[in-house]
Amino acid sequence: MAFANQQATVYNDTVVRQFAIMTVVWGVVGMLVGVIIAAQLTWPELNLGIPWLSYGRLRPLHTNAVIFAFGGCGLFAAAYYVVQRTCQVRLFGDKLAAFTFWGWQLVILAAAISLPLGYTQGKEYAELEWPIDILITLVWVTFAIVFFGTVGTRKVKHIYVANWFFGAFILAVAILHLVNSAAIPAGFMKSYSAYAGVQDAMVQWWYGHNAVGFFLTAGFLGMMYYFIPKQAGRPVYSYRLSIVHFWALIFTYMWAGPHHLHYTALPDWTQSVGMVFSLILLAPSWGGMINGIMTLSGAWHKLRDDPILRFLIVSLSFYGMSTFEGPMMSIKTVNALSHYTDWTVGHVHSGALGWVGLVTMGSMYYLIPKLFGQKQMYSVKAIEVHFWTATIGIVIYIAAMWIAGVMQGLMWRAINPDGTLTYTFVESVKATFPFYVLRLLGGLLYLTGMLIMLWNTLKTATAGRAVSVNVPAVTAHA
Ligand code: HEM
Ligand code: HEM
Repeated sequence: MAFANQQATVYNDTVVRQFAIMTVVWGVVGMLVGVIIAAQLTWPELNLGIPWLSYGRLRPLHTNAVIFAFGGCGLFAAAYYVVQRTCQVRLFGDKLAAFTFWGWQLVILAAAISLPLGYTQGKEYAELEWPIDILITLVWVTFAIVFFGTVGTRKVKHIYVANWFFGAFILAVAILHLVNSAAIPAGFMKSYSAYAGVQDAMVQWWYGHNAVGFFLTAGFLGMMYYFIPKQAGRPVYSYRLSIVHFWALIFTYMWAGPHHLHYTALPDWTQSVGMVFSLILLAPSWGGMINGIMTLSGAWHKLRDDPILRFLIVSLSFYGMSTFEGPMMSIKTVNALSHYTDWTVGHVHSGALGWVGLVTMGSMYYLIPKLFGQKQMYSVKAIEVHFWTATIGIVIYIAAMWIAGVMQGLMWRAINPDGTLTYTFVESVKATFPFYVLRLLGGLLYLTGMLIMLWNTLKTATAGRAVSVNVPAVTAHA
């Protein structure tokens, strides 16, 4: 009984620690696979003639590993840490929380085995076959119970805005997954989508775009709204703006999916709706970015000597950049040039490496020492080195892809006076080669930074010990 009472007065940081460590581990794995496929695109011989090492199978392994394993574990860790601190209560359901950790690792393991073996539903970011989809559903519903259970038993009247973002991310991803993964099983690890033709494409990109909006954006905005004010030691710039930001963002994202299907069999008006909502999306996205960056107003000097804050603030700059670029690319005439080219891949990675990657790393650098009873990471210098290797890596990666992308788009549309194409496709592939080498270099730098983080994390964890933090006895009122 005494033990139960003691349990109730400390935060459940065991599960946060587990997810935080695995964020770093899966980050290294996912980015390593990214580097391998970047090398395969440069030198196709690196497929080695082995089917399960071929580009077509490793590419979805990369996207699943970085989004769902690296990003997913980071989101679980942050959501569980933040919801306890802002609600001043222990996480709801210890066993359920533990199930989400082990269940999610099992999903990742199943992905890591089944994708190289060639099992896939063929839907981007939703490749995993139906038995794994069922496991994902179980873990996600449990995640929702733990998260909303904690919010429901909170000791603080007010629900801090970070929890709104985490809550929207959990609910939206549940709906997206259930709708898009609806399929008729045709044997173990084989199924057919419940949708066909253009409806299938529309459902897929409603899912795909909202995976960006809710998995890669809303959840990480939850991180941003907690860890930036904490690390800066200042309240968020405008709480009112954060609420407007929340509602405007989640409403608008849902309608933008058709911008992935410009000039396809999708009805033209649907494409225009997608374009218009994408353009509107610039406003809430930038509102959020400004709110985060302005949190530092009056304390800009902190950026000079705090590398963690630099990770967090620079991540927002990349967020601003990619949410400016996205609406531009959604304009049909711009998309006519960018679609199918490496411009898209450049856009993806300015969001993925710049925003998702850096905000996760910054948040984990804040969390990890606290979880192991340390004042700071084992080496602050190493955080600094990581910051610069990652940032230089991102710039090389995305600049190479932008130039390659625009070049490809222009080469493909160039026409001679007699109406024939100026360049063959192979000529455009040859012209892209140097940019693929540069991208590989940028990726290697980014991966090096992640390896430094892994070393620093292991040193911090072994120098410290797992600590229990008391839930404060006082209850605050908003
Ligand atoms: C070392 C770092 C990384 C490298 C070298 C790398 C490399 C690559 C390569 C070569 C592709 C295939 C591009 C193509 O099909 O032409 C790709 C796709 C992709 N990567 Fe990465 N990546 C890295 C990190 C990340 C991270 C951290 C994320 C997400 C958080 C991410 C998300 C994606 C996504 C979503 C795609 C699919 C893009 C699309 O379909 O347009 N990557 N990556
Ligand atoms: C206002 C916000 C944004 C808008 C309107 C937007 C718009 C777009 C557009 C028009 C495309 C190209 C579609 C195509 O030609 O196939 C695209 C692709 C993509 N964007 Fe964004 N974007 C935004 C923000 C972001 C952010 C912040 C991220 C990442 C964290 C991101 C990740 C992606 C990914 C992964 C794809 C590639 C999808 C695929 O083909 O596999 N976007 N986006």
